[in-house]
Amino acid sequence: MKSIVINGGKKLHGDVAISGAKNAALPIIAAGLLAEGEHRIANVPTLVDVTTLGRILRNMGVTFELKDHSVVLDSSKLNNPEAPYDLVRTMRASVLVLGPLVARFGKARVSLPGGCAIGARPVNLHTMGLEKLGAKVDIEHGYMVASAKRLRGAHIYFDTVTVTGTENLMMAATLAEGETILENAAREPEVVDLAQALIGMGAKIEGAGTDIIRIKGVQSLRPLDYTVLPDRIETGTFVIAAAITGGSITITRCNPSHLDALLAKVGEAGAEITIGEGTITVHGQKKIKPVNIKTLPYPGFPTDMQAQFMSLMALADGTSVINETIFENRFTHVAELRRMGADIVVEGRSAVVKGVPKLSAAPVMATDLRASASLILAGMAAEGQTVVSRIYHLDRGYDNIEQKLSALGADIKRV
Ligand code: EPZ
Repeated sequence: MKSIVINGGKKLHGDVAISGAKNAALPIIAAGLLAEGEHRIANVPTLVDVTTLGRILRNMGVTFELKDHSVVLDSSKLNNPEAPYDLVRTMRASVLVLGPLVARFGKARVSLPGGCAIGARPVNLHTMGLEKLGAKVDIEHGYMVASAKRLRGAHIYFDTVTVTGTENLMMAATLAEGETILENAAREPEVVDLAQALIGMGAKIEGAGTDIIRIKGVQSLRPLDYTVLPDRIETGTFVIAAAITGGSITITRCNPSHLDALLAKVGEAGAEITIGEGTITVHGQKKIKPVNIKTLPYPGFPTDMQAQFMSLMALADGTSVINETIFENRFTHVAELRRMGADIVVEGRSAVVKGVPKLSAAPVMATDLRASASLILAGMAAEGQTVVSRIYHLDRGYDNIEQKLSALGADIKRV
């Protein structure tokens, strides 16, 4: 079992380049199921989630290669529209193959993803939408079994904003007969990136990035050739790394406009932030001010930055309240931060964080992807040696984070 060992107290300095966005690469790779031919996707992060999706696609008969941050895939010879449990359970986003498979092949058998550390993660809105488009969807032995002659456009209303639900149904609708309207759609930049990729394949999509997306179905699509946008959550994680260590770093190859809520809050906490062309420069200050946050669908404060921000607030000069409105169990990092001396009390969906002058290094355990990042951030600020175990969670969503952090002066290594 690998661990990450950090000797805290080093201020970060220097430049770091951001990798492609995991949560855009995954749906865009799934979009390769919608058309024959060779699809090329650039700026793909080297992550376990990406290689897992590759294994799922290969299992279907799709050729899939990930090399030098580029994916080449060809689904022309797909002969098995299935995603098996043993693969899906390690990566919930596998549900993103469902819409494309039903749209292109008229059938799919995809394992229900099951829950994870942060919540039950239901997919009822995905299946509801597919049924609205005319598919028959049954749940059999833990699998979603879907079939449709040809999908027909429909008006789909999401009663909860769902990122992959929006993405799954947007993909399915590209080949449906007639027009589909997705109402109360997710507005995340990754949804917009997927829409741009689909439009490049010949899809007719309007309104991506707003809460109403219109898709006019077409007969067929052509192979995609696309470059994935920068990862805003990796970017935000480095913004906090500078703030929590009192360092000064410049983050390059990023898109600052995708982080308005986070940058506003880290600025309120006292860091000096300067935006450049595709760059963010962050000067952390000694004093960290307490700031309340509430996670919301984009453009609100991202739930995927909540754990990282909590580490910063653990060292604030006062009390802050962190309200997690998206997932019902996204405070598993609290117990671990408390082991490091943080003073945090969870009340339902809110955590009350009373800042302490110092965190003390301790052996801690990662419980999910973003919790892993929050423990590394806390370890870099704590006095002494922190050992973070179960870092397979980390490798799902961060591309060589310890190399990037040690290049910025952190004393961090993988053992
Ligand atoms: C996406 O997950 C991201 N993953 C998550 O990032 C992110 O935390 C989440 O969106 C919210 O921004 C990918 O894009 C691969 P949702 P997703 O559907 O789509 C409820 C990370 O760290 N819901 O937007 O699965 C759900 O329970 C990961 O990179 C239903 O009730 O999240 C949740 O409360 C973690 N029924 C809320 O909606 C459904 O059918 C938002 O979930 C679907 C969702």
